[in-house]
Amino acid sequence: MRNVDKNLCLLIFGFLFLPSLLHLISAADYVPTDKVLLNCGASPETTDSDGRKWTSDIGSKFASKGGNSSTSTAATQDPSVPQVPYMTARIFQSEYTYSFPVALGHKFVRLYFYPASYSGLNASNAIFSVTAGPYTLLKNFSVAQTTQALNDDFIMKEYSVNVPTEILNITFKPSSSSPNSYAFVNGIEVVSMPDIYNTADGASMMVGENVAFIIDNSTALENVYRVNVGGNDISPSGDTGLFRSWSADSQYIFGAAFGVTETIGSNVTFQYPSGMPTYVAPVDVYSTARLMGPNQNINLNYNLTWMFTVGSGFSYLVRLHFCEVEEVITRHNQRVFSIFLNNQTAEREADVIAWAGKQGVPVYKDYVVLVPTGAPQQDLWLALHPYTATKSQYYDAILNGVEIFKVNDTSGNLAGPNPVPASIVGNEPSSANRSSSSSSHSNYLKAIIGGSVGGGIAAVLIVGLLVCGVCRRRRKAKYSSPSDGPSGWLPLSLYGHSHSAGSAKTNTTGSYASSHPSNLCRHFSFAEIKSATKNFDEALLLGVGGFGKVYKEKLMVEQLRLQLSVGIPLLSKVCMNSKLR
Ligand SMILES: *[C@@H]1O[C@H](CO)[C@@H](O)[C@H](O)[C@H]1NC(C)=O
Ligand SMILES: *[C@@H]1O[C@H](CO)[C@@H](O)[C@H](O)[C@H]1NC(C)=O
Ligand SMILES: *[C@@H]1O[C@H](CO)[C@@H](O)[C@H](O)[C@H]1NC(C)=O
Ligand SMILES: *[C@@H]1O[C@H](CO)[C@@H](O)[C@H](O)[C@H]1NC(C)=O
Ligand SMILES: *[C@@H]1O[C@H](CO)[C@@H](O)[C@H](O)[C@H]1NC(C)=O
Ligand SMILES: *[C@@H]1O[C@H](CO)[C@@H](O)[C@H](O)[C@H]1NC(C)=O
Ligand SMILES: *[C@@H]1O[C@H](CO)[C@@H](O)[C@H](O)[C@H]1NC(C)=O
Ligand SMILES: *[C@@H]1O[C@H](CO)[C@@H](O)[C@H](O)[C@H]1NC(C)=O
Ligand SMILES: *[C@@H]1O[C@H](CO)[C@@H](O)[C@H](O)[C@H]1NC(C)=O
Ligand SMILES: *[C@@H]1O[C@H](CO)[C@@H](O)[C@H](O)[C@H]1NC(C)=O
Repeated sequence: MRNVDKNLCLLIFGFLFLPSLLHLISAADYVPTDKVLLNCGASPETTDSDGRKWTSDIGSKFASKGGNSSTSTAATQDPSVPQVPYMTARIFQSEYTYSFPVALGHKFVRLYFYPASYSGLNASNAIFSVTAGPYTLLKNFSVAQTTQALNDDFIMKEYSVNVPTEILNITFKPSSSSPNSYAFVNGIEVVSMPDIYNTADGASMMVGENVAFIIDNSTALENVYRVNVGGNDISPSGDTGLFRSWSADSQYIFGAAFGVTETIGSNVTFQYPSGMPTYVAPVDVYSTARLMGPNQNINLNYNLTWMFTVGSGFSYLVRLHFCEVEEVITRHNQRVFSIFLNNQTAEREADVIAWAGKQGVPVYKDYVVLVPTGAPQQDLWLALHPYTATKSQYYDAILNGVEIFKVNDTSGNLAGPNPVPASIVGNEPSSANRSSSSSSHSNYLKAIIGGSVGGGIAAVLIVGLLVCGVCRRRRKAKYSSPSDGPSGWLPLSLYGHSHSAGSAKTNTTGSYASSHPSNLCRHFSFAEIKSATKNFDEALLLGVGGFGKVYKEKLMVEQLRLQLSVGIPLLSKVCMNSKLR
């Protein structure tokens, strides 16, 4: 009797809540079949700062029998480096294979490296190759040199491979060309993934040539960038079950024109379209965006540009994520823009509403760019510009997310030469003693500092006015029309995501250098600005738009890539203008 009651209850409950249950399931994260997190050389079980559990590779069934290797703890560990999995390592003096029994299908392979001295070995001698199945992931790879060049303390390499057999072999092999070389690894992650990056349907076009580029089961990819445009970092556990890391985009923006960031409007309903798995990218990616700005005159005069450094001689799959977040944009031809990749037109008329059907609905587009051989590292440019020929209502552009993948070459290779550390420009007093946090993986890149310097015709430079905040402005149908004329609004390069530098006095939480940790802000000397702008060389003039002359040049300061702008309007004016808007 009791059982009958219970079943009846369940039935009624189920009947009432089935629809919402179904909804929950359809919006659920991906559940990987295989999920191996190996903390090499560590004690049995460890948990990382993201809450993920790692098992040890000591005596593990994945480790090769009779392989010659040893384990060690890093001799020194920077406090900014996560303990798990970077504190311990397995060291290989000769070839060593991990064999992972897995289900057939695509896998993410993530390799974790921290270049320290292990067992008294010199970190510079760790030069090795790594293969996964038939693919060469790394060759003549120096962790020490790579991290130094990237100004990082540690490095995670992510690959996507299809495994058509029941075993995935990952092999580490010390370089044979240098005598004392050895190999090591701190952590290995093998996780099943859905086949979301294939373009076998011909959906990805080779930019500049009108041919489809097929990414299929035979293709291995290396993720080189994964960016939440206009938003924050997303940690692996914040992703949709695929444990991808997304980083904020400000460190990749080129030039002084940073646009504005926007979060999804309160009455815009976010909804994945039917047929698009919810794990393609998390809601957090689609609900934040970067736009060019409210002044259409300025927008017409610049390109909203991101710059990504990549290895030469490979094709790259560029996936752009879009979702209209602004309430005022509901129809076709309200905001139409062109997309350029490496200065070539990838999309002439991008209209997110036309693609997605309505606002709040995500859509993504794939493009393939060939980065020719040449210097070992080159910049891959992504630029957006309003498209005016259709006379769209707003001259603006929008982007929510970017993923960039290196595509294996014809021999199944993904490895390129080690990046060469840039020479350090200047002798900054603070650079020698950078606080550890500023050098941490995600922080250092974020520390893009916009220096805004005002001056008149006499070039009276007011130096030291630095901004560390972000323009997160809610713009509700407040576009200024092109006829409004220049307003003096300056799209400043700003740091941070939760700060608002929107108004001068009221809710400014992150305006001036003094209110921020010193490692994020820096004062520039006149000499530095002069040298950065090559003595105000007219050739470096970016634009004369509504915001006066903007000079730009890359500066290596504190080994950060900083961007410095010398603009005419004073900061106070900028703040005032944004307050009035
Ligand atoms: C393992 O490596 C050590 C040190 O290089 C060497 O002395 C030893 O002979 C190796 N053992 C095997 C089985 O290869
Ligand atoms: C790709 O590989 C997966 C799993 O390995 C398989 O299920 C699928 O049929 C393959 N696709 C093609 C087109 O061969
Ligand atoms: C490690 O090797 C590099 C290059 O061979 C050398 O410059 C450095 O001094 C060595 N470090 C130590 C601690 O021996
Ligand atoms: C291996 O890498 C080192 C360091 O980047 C470089 O000096 C050397 O030329 C490379 N060797 C080969 C064979 O590529
Ligand atoms: C994996 O490696 C093991 C041991 O080295 C070898 O016996 C096996 O054939 C390899 N399997 C594949 C699929 O490469
Ligand atoms: C959003 O809400 C505001 C105020 O509540 C309203 O004026 C506006 O029309 C709404 N927009 C849309 C697209 O529903
Ligand atoms: C794209 O244009 C910029 C600016 O004119 C230039 O610096 C850059 O080298 C170009 N990039 C390519 C790949 O042509
Ligand atoms: C924007 O980029 C494209 C492609 O590199 C270039 O042709 C165009 O001149 C740029 N426009 C502006 C305003 O910089
Ligand atoms: C990637 O490597 C596989 C295996 O070597 C090969 O079949 C495929 O053609 C390569 N892809 C490209 C784009 O070269
Ligand atoms: C860096 O710190 C060390 C020890 O804390 C100190 O001796 C040195 O003078 C500092 N260097 C600079 C450039 O501040």
